[in-house]
Amino acid sequence: MRDYHEFLSEVLIPADVLQSRIRELGAQISKDFNNSDDLILVCILRGGVMFLTDLMRQITVPHGVEFMAVSSYGAGQRETTGQVRISLDLNVNIHDKDVVIVEDIIDSGRTLASVIDLLSARHPHSLTVCTLLDKAERREVYVPVRYVGFSIPNKFVFGYGLDLDDLYRNLPFIGVVDETKYKPE
Ligand code: IMP
Ligand code: MG
Repeated sequence: MRDYHEFLSEVLIPADVLQSRIRELGAQISKDFNNSDDLILVCILRGGVMFLTDLMRQITVPHGVEFMAVSSYGAGQRETTGQVRISLDLNVNIHDKDVVIVEDIIDSGRTLASVIDLLSARHPHSLTVCTLLDKAERREVYVPVRYVGFSIPNKFVFGYGLDLDDLYRNLPFIGVVDETKYKPE
């Protein structure tokens, strides 16, 4: 496995900056859902995992956590249809619950738009989105997002849950890939 220093072009968001922003997001969510009877965080696997575990430690109101995994239909040509398939579904019924989707990054918005369609058909009491990163200039479909950690430029990033060919999710910061130096093995 290659050392990430070989293709890291810059640290975009250092670990301490991530953590202080996550404290703010947790405080805001705690305030907004202070009167909720049934709050559930729905983490989109696998990229959202590190964000979820840090975020939930900053949320002071009782809440459940659920996991969902989705994959794009035929990554490649059909990707633009934006259809996603659920490969792991929630374990609970979200009817009448306050659902906050916890996502790592919104790029075109297609993945999240499909997830929102799927979950809103189950009639939660409320459905909101919390994303750590937002590449707003890449957006192709509108997605309502209530909580954004950081708006970032159109660069390919990795670390803190985000992968490069399934590796490097463990890094505690968000780094930018130097695409001239990174070649999948
Ligand atoms: P969208 O459907 O185009 O919004 O794609 C969102 C998904 O693409 C995210 O959940 C990530 O898994 C992946 N993704 C988009 N940009 C990046 C990136 O810069 N680094 C790693 N994964 C990314
Ligand atoms: Mg993801």
